[in-house]
Amino acid sequence: MSKNQQKALQNVKGMDDILPGEIRPWQEIERKFREVFESWNFKEIRTPLVEPLELFKRSIGSDTDIVAKEMFAFKDRKDRDLALRPEATASVVRSFIQHRLGEGIKNLGLYYWGSMYRAERPQKGRKREFYQAGCELFGESHPYQDIVLITALKKFLKEIGLQQYELKINHLGTPEERAKYIKELQKYLKTHEEKLSADSKRRLETNPLRVFDSKLKEDLEVTAGAPKLIDSLGEASREQFEMIQEKLKKMKIDFVVEPRIVRGLDYYTGFVFEVTHPALGAQDAIGAGGRYDGLVEMLGGPQVGASGFALGIERLLLSLKGEGKDWSDANHSIYFGALSKEYFDTLHELRVKVAALGFETEADYLQTALKKHLSQANKIKASFTVILGEAEIGKQVVLLKDMASGEQKEVPFSKLEETLKTIRS
Ligand code: HAM
Repeated sequence: MSKNQQKALQNVKGMDDILPGEIRPWQEIERKFREVFESWNFKEIRTPLVEPLELFKRSIGSDTDIVAKEMFAFKDRKDRDLALRPEATASVVRSFIQHRLGEGIKNLGLYYWGSMYRAERPQKGRKREFYQAGCELFGESHPYQDIVLITALKKFLKEIGLQQYELKINHLGTPEERAKYIKELQKYLKTHEEKLSADSKRRLETNPLRVFDSKLKEDLEVTAGAPKLIDSLGEASREQFEMIQEKLKKMKIDFVVEPRIVRGLDYYTGFVFEVTHPALGAQDAIGAGGRYDGLVEMLGGPQVGASGFALGIERLLLSLKGEGKDWSDANHSIYFGALSKEYFDTLHELRVKVAALGFETEADYLQTALKKHLSQANKIKASFTVILGEAEIGKQVVLLKDMASGEQKEVPFSKLEETLKTIRS
């Protein structure tokens, strides 16, 4: 260590780098998410990472785990209460209202991709900075909106090759039905109060539905015998839920009804769902969402129906890995090496042509030793190496070496692009 070298710094716990060697699946997932959602006319929206704290308190709810325990909240220099976004639905709704995005449009679909922040205890599939790909659909409140979301979600999961996931659905009823149910639930929980955890005891008074969010054994034992929200649904909600189920069956989309899903955010109304995967262990939800028809009004906007969902990208990757999906480099990289300085211009011209085909290309314009070129090509995991030496220049060919098999052959300059194109098909 030299005299000037300082101590190296580390990342913040739970907020990890995504390194160049890991980035490819992230890019592929993002690309496929865009492709699928744009085919359903969703438009991308990018909202800030920082929002007024009040936004999350009003939408997600002050008594939820996310707001009460997991916010990265802070005061700025002018004493304003701000927070790093723990999710994006609230921000998208804020923006939808602020910019009157829905004016004159019957349905507006928005999608997003970005980092979210929750101060949870880091573990497998649970981080403090994590990525979500999500979408929100505004317009008339109709079961077809929910069907559109699930259809697009299913198509996306198919595109990335995920198979062993499970779709779990539930219905939270209208606010009135839920209020009636909450009273019933509160009555039941009161009779078992002494068995509940301290947190759940508090929630029993402030927000009884949130007792279902607890993963503690003592709380799970009590909630197992609790009345079910689904049994308190009125005629219209029941019909709506049945209609969605019928449509899912018709479309051969597998699902299970899971009455325990009440979602950990207060803004939901009506149909809700989660997608889980067995490879994930305790944190088994890859994604979740549902209908939140009252939120736009609650945040000061017009009366608009809305539903959406978000997928956790780290958990998606863990699930893919669990299924043994090979997400190694989808692209081929081609290394170019010349054996004399005089050939560098020709080498560069060939590289320009191959780069234009969309391959990743690399060259060393200072090196002329074959052994060093090959070792460099191996280091960057090149699929092919293009070598240009005296013999090749004379014949206007390159030596094309397949780095996996070790095979090599001469390819005329004029045929190089064509030859490389065939390795992709
Ligand atoms: P959420 O259930 O809080 O919903 O999060 C959605 C997904 O984000 C989870 O299923 C999980 O995959 C991922 N996730 C959440 N927390 C973490 C964490 N600490 N580490 C890693 N991944 C995590 C929402 O966020 C709603 N905004 C979804 C929505 C959109 N509802 C309607 N529209």
